[in-house]
Amino acid sequence: MKHHSTEEVCLPSGTTLKKEIFVPGDKSVTHRAVMFGAMANGESVITTNALGRDNFATIRIFNQLGVSISLSLTPSMKVLAESEGLSHLVSHEDTPEKDSVIHVQGRGVAALRKSEAPLDCGNSGTTARLLCGVLASTNFSSILVGDHSLQKRPFGRIADPLGKMGVQFSGGVMPLTVWGVRESVHGSIIPQTFELKKASAQVKSAILLAGLFGSGVTRVIEPVLSRDHTERMLSSMGAPVSTTMLEDGRFQIEVEGSDTLSLSPLRCVIPGDFSAAMFFIVAGLITKNDGILIRNVGVNPTRTGALEILKEMGAHIELQNESMNGGEPVADVLVCTSDLKGISIGAVEVARAIDEIPILGVLAAFAEGPTRIHGAEELRVKESDRISMVVAMLKTYGIQVKEFPDGFEVYGRGGLSGEGNSEDSVLGEWTHCGDHRISMSAAILQFALGGEVIVYDFPSVETSFPTFLSCFNC
Ligand code: S3P
Repeated sequence: MKHHSTEEVCLPSGTTLKKEIFVPGDKSVTHRAVMFGAMANGESVITTNALGRDNFATIRIFNQLGVSISLSLTPSMKVLAESEGLSHLVSHEDTPEKDSVIHVQGRGVAALRKSEAPLDCGNSGTTARLLCGVLASTNFSSILVGDHSLQKRPFGRIADPLGKMGVQFSGGVMPLTVWGVRESVHGSIIPQTFELKKASAQVKSAILLAGLFGSGVTRVIEPVLSRDHTERMLSSMGAPVSTTMLEDGRFQIEVEGSDTLSLSPLRCVIPGDFSAAMFFIVAGLITKNDGILIRNVGVNPTRTGALEILKEMGAHIELQNESMNGGEPVADVLVCTSDLKGISIGAVEVARAIDEIPILGVLAAFAEGPTRIHGAEELRVKESDRISMVVAMLKTYGIQVKEFPDGFEVYGRGGLSGEGNSEDSVLGEWTHCGDHRISMSAAILQFALGGEVIVYDFPSVETSFPTFLSCFNC
């Protein structure tokens, strides 16, 4: 393994996949465990295989809000935490070999304290949006800032509904000032019902978190059920949250708020991140190998839409050792080299596989016939404009691809023209767009094409998958 510059890492040609892979703890679940642990009464103990920069941003912010947090980290996680300026939280008494542990001393949401310094959410949209829901019922104002990518992402989708609940916002983009209701004329959260046109776990979670400490019922109705980690975790902590399917097929999620609500602390092992596992599920499917086993992956059905897409394309995937872990289903995922065929993917499938679309674009290049993805316009406002970036990236490697406003089409094996040019002079904006999923998708594509693998913008990979390189033998 060579470090080209501080930003790039190169794996030599001949690199192979490990037969048994562990992925970091689920990023979405970890954010929630730290936040909800901070809102609970008592000590939460959160165990995880690894965690990235985004989760460290959440940890830093809750510590700034007055929550005592201590980290017992593996050596590589220690290095990352230190580079995030969190040395003061790292316990130096023990250095675990295998799993890292986060201890959060929650004293209830009322014990959160104003931070004079802005709350830096870095690259993490989930941190910023869920945080708005937590800050809703405080008695102080907070300033949220983020990196270049987060400054371009929309926050009106949070500010509008929470505004109706009595929370004031400075606007719909970063930097964002949020005034907790206990500082405003209302003095308390106004419970509401919201019908979302588009399912979004971030919007749903922010509303439920705000509703939790209002007096009365807050409801969110979604056309399809977005990832439900918030509902599962809050229920396990004793919060009155329930989900029902309405007659018209939509989902209604309800929380019975109360300003005296006390959440029980958590004791959980975070399941492996399905979205991280997908990079190696795809790698296992499109390269020659005798089977790759990815251990302890979260397989919550609101997250695994990509598995159904892959099966329809002809993928050989088996879930083994299925069990429940802290309210979340987990399994070992076995994948084998497969002959794949192209398919059409529409809005309903996209909703349950939104974070997996870039790597599915790579997979589509190895399928027989075209794969068409529509209904994915939300990808344009993720960590980057993922439609443009994935299209540009595939073209660099000679893959025929056509861009639509709401998706793209990849022409499959016949479309591998080999005419791409990955010389430095033609590498595009995608190499430094700061989007972890684009960098990792490009790495898996290069790996499958053979030859050396350059992981561009490695610091962005560390936002979600700092242990990415450890999944290869090199
Ligand atoms: C997330 C929700 C999704 C997802 C994001 C993580 C979450 O976003 O794309 O990576 O943890 O709640 P939306 O809620 O915008 O769909």
